Amino acid sequence: MRVPTGIQGLDELIEGGLLEGSSTLIAGGTGTGKTIFGSQYIYNGAKDYSEPGIYITFEEGEKNLWWNMKNFRWDVAKYTEQNMMKIYKVSMIEPGEFAARFNSEIERIKDMVDKMNAKRLVIDSTTSFGMWMESDHEIRYSLFKLAEELKEMNVTTLLTAETLGGKSQLSRFGVEEFITDGVISLYYRPPRRFMMVRKMRGTDHNKDIHPYDITSHGLEINTQERVLWESLVD
Ligand SMILES: Nc1ncnc2c1ncn2[C@@H]1O[C@H](COP(=O)(O)OP(=O)(O)OP(=O)(O)O)[C@@H](O)[C@H]1O
Ligand SMILES: [Mg+2]
Repeated sequence: MRVPTGIQGLDELIEGGLLEGSSTLIAGGTGTGKTIFGSQYIYNGAKDYSEPGIYITFEEGEKNLWWNMKNFRWDVAKYTEQNMMKIYKVSMIEPGEFAARFNSEIERIKDMVDKMNAKRLVIDSTTSFGMWMESDHEIRYSLFKLAEELKEMNVTTLLTAETLGGKSQLSRFGVEEFITDGVISLYYRPPRRFMMVRKMRGTDHNKDIHPYDITSHGLEINTQERVLWESLVD
């Protein structure tokens, strides 16, 4: 079963959508559109596919989310009231180390998924999530644990990862791309933006680099045009 993202141009590159129950990393430098990508996935799910979704943010990006949604004129209030979408901000300023609260946060998320019967999940971002861990070991452990828990929840997940913007780097910690079933890379080479499906397990995906725009409708991929890898600067 495929889960359509509803993002213009994307689903046709990945055999109609994400594999149900899979997890996909949206990797890119700052301002490439990772947060917009994730919010569109959740909003489209609620609006067009009757699939409840939860957007989990570890960032100051909560405000960013509302700005985007207002700007795109999405009726977020309607779908939130209908329990079709929810934004959940994981607070980092609650007492206690985040690493120690990690398990209880996972339980909280599981609970929300159950209650809403959520099918879609976004985790924005694995980078800020990892930043709260003390050591590399802790980062790796918690990312693996997260991936395992997501599989059990049977939701189709997008996780964002911030890179330093280089074209070869897929994530900050170097493990995020191994715990996910798919990786979509976003590049910004002002004034143009490009994307490619880097991997997608079980999917005969498109391998080209395509330009995309961020417009008043969100992300729009131009599937007709492609550019060469060499034309992306590192
Ligand atoms: N309505 C709009 N029309 C055109 N472009 C927009 C619009 N809204 C946002 N953008 C562009 O999208 C960018 C932000 O996208 P987004 O917040 O999704 O990026 P991000 O990859 O999540 O960045 P961050 O590193 O801050 O998390 C803005 O910098 C701007 O260039
Ligand atoms: Mg963001």
